[in-house]
Amino acid sequence: MTVLCQVHEIEEDSARGFDVDGRSVLAVKKDGRIYVYVNSCPHIGIPLEFQPDEFLDMEKRFIQCANHGALFEIETGDCIAGPCSGQALTAAPFEIDGDTLRLI
Ligand code: FES
Repeated sequence: MTVLCQVHEIEEDSARGFDVDGRSVLAVKKDGRIYVYVNSCPHIGIPLEFQPDEFLDMEKRFIQCANHGALFEIETGDCIAGPCSGQALTAAPFEIDGDTLRLI
């Protein structure tokens, strides 16, 4: 298992990107809960962000793909607007042990 970070290091309503062991994922914290997805847009299979750790829309309500603007629900990964509407981000299995966030 791969340690990503400590949960407290991710601020509420923000995201962080990680490239570890050949895997690229993003972790989002919302309402105190953590969600982790593979960093690959279902539109054309490329990373979501242009700037490091910039994965959310301006209101911090959705995950937003910087390439063509697709919006994804933070809680489910479902794409609700944009060129891949109806598709979804792939959830990455993880565990939280105390304050430590790990990919499984
Ligand atoms: S690559 Fe994400 S919307 Fe096009």
